[in-house]
Amino acid sequence: MNYDLILKGGTLVDPLGTALNGVDLGIRDGKLAAIADTIDPSRGDDVYDAAGLFILPGLIDAHVHFRDPGLTYKEDFGSGSAAAARGGITTVADMPNTLPPTAGTGELREKARAAGEKSYTDFGLFALLTQDNLGEMDALVREGALGFKVFLGTSVGNIAAPPLGTLYEQMRRAGPRRIAFHAEDNELNGHFTRLCREIPGDDPALLPRARPDISEAEAVARAIRLAEYTGAAIHICHVSAARSLALIREAKRRRLPVSAETCPQYLFLDSGDYPRLGTRMKVNPPVRSAEDREALWRGIAEGVIDMIATDHAPHTAEEKDRPLWEALPGIAGVETSVPLMLTAVNQGRLSLNDYARIASLAPARVWGLYPRKGGAGINADADFTIVDMARRGVIRNAELQSRHRTSPYEGFETLGAPVAALLRGRFIMKNGVVTGKAGFGRLVRPVNPDPAEPAAADRSGGTGHALYPPTV
Ligand code: DOR
Ligand code: ZN
Ligand code: ZN
Repeated sequence: MNYDLILKGGTLVDPLGTALNGVDLGIRDGKLAAIADTIDPSRGDDVYDAAGLFILPGLIDAHVHFRDPGLTYKEDFGSGSAAAARGGITTVADMPNTLPPTAGTGELREKARAAGEKSYTDFGLFALLTQDNLGEMDALVREGALGFKVFLGTSVGNIAAPPLGTLYEQMRRAGPRRIAFHAEDNELNGHFTRLCREIPGDDPALLPRARPDISEAEAVARAIRLAEYTGAAIHICHVSAARSLALIREAKRRRLPVSAETCPQYLFLDSGDYPRLGTRMKVNPPVRSAEDREALWRGIAEGVIDMIATDHAPHTAEEKDRPLWEALPGIAGVETSVPLMLTAVNQGRLSLNDYARIASLAPARVWGLYPRKGGAGINADADFTIVDMARRGVIRNAELQSRHRTSPYEGFETLGAPVAALLRGRFIMKNGVVTGKAGFGRLVRPVNPDPAEPAAADRSGGTGHALYPPTV
């Protein structure tokens, strides 16, 4: 049998701990068809020499804001996914705070259609939970929603959390779909922001005082309690604080279905960077102390943090460079995350296998894409991120594909870089140049059971919470 492509002589990095040195991968019809010591190059229509390179399962960024539809002057699905491909990411998951928000089946279908015409990477789509879409949740799942999103604290888009009773019912209804939380407490943020705004001088170091760690921890605690009461599986987005980590660690110890992510801004920046970077590093939740940063690295090592995502949140330079309280929060990350994380691997912060786990296997599992994505099993999608651990680079905003070119990482020196990315057997990036085609990316639908199926229905009635008001 012949192959469309052979990746020759690379080291295949298994997220669960081993590495296969100098193997050949045979790819056919977009799938991984063979892993062997040697495959005769004459059997491949195309052969890629991966000697000296590491082959990771295609990296997944499960938290991006591509601003499409409605805010495409900041980014659109084409520019955002091209940036992802250049950065070595093969699948993204897009957040629902677009205009209109992705809260109904019509909006989800339209976003999937439009993204399907523009995207360079595969993509999943989150659906927003609002005060009035409880009745549409099952339909959103059937339409392909990867999961649901709740903004417990308002951020960009001013989306309010559903009232608590509604959220309770929504969590009872979520079935096998996980609910991702932007976890910040609005009242505490309001209180501390008011106090900080009275301090003259617009010091950017006020940002973490205006939205303090206790605000995040309060919301994380509430999300975890609701998961316990309702049986819903939850995910904590962009964990930024040691205090939240402690709560998540305890929830995991109690075997609650809680997963968590952190982002490069909380691992590579800390409050000492505010004088230098100002509002360029303004983001919700804010970048905190060096102690929080170190705690997050430990959280990754311990497995309390399941995954890395970027919360890629592009804005224009004008929107970022406003005075402190008017500047918009958000950091572009989809293009710089992989070289930064590979640099951390080279520094001994984590192993390359660990990185494959937190950047591919874990997001694929948590969001229902495994084993099609997230690993290197035979018949999995042939998605691979090929990295050169000896490649040096300097992050230059002017070179970014994203429309957001005000990243805080300008001038960062990196060691280790993605040099090629394959999506379903096709190169979408080679040597740092996007080679894929707009519209090759597809909607990825999670594979867990449909909530209409009996197993899921049983679960919603049988989790031991019958004393509470029945689901409406
Ligand atoms: O800083 C942020 N920006 N935090 C969010 O939660 C939303 C995001 C955005 O959409 O800009
Ligand atoms: Zn958020
Ligand atoms: Zn976000």
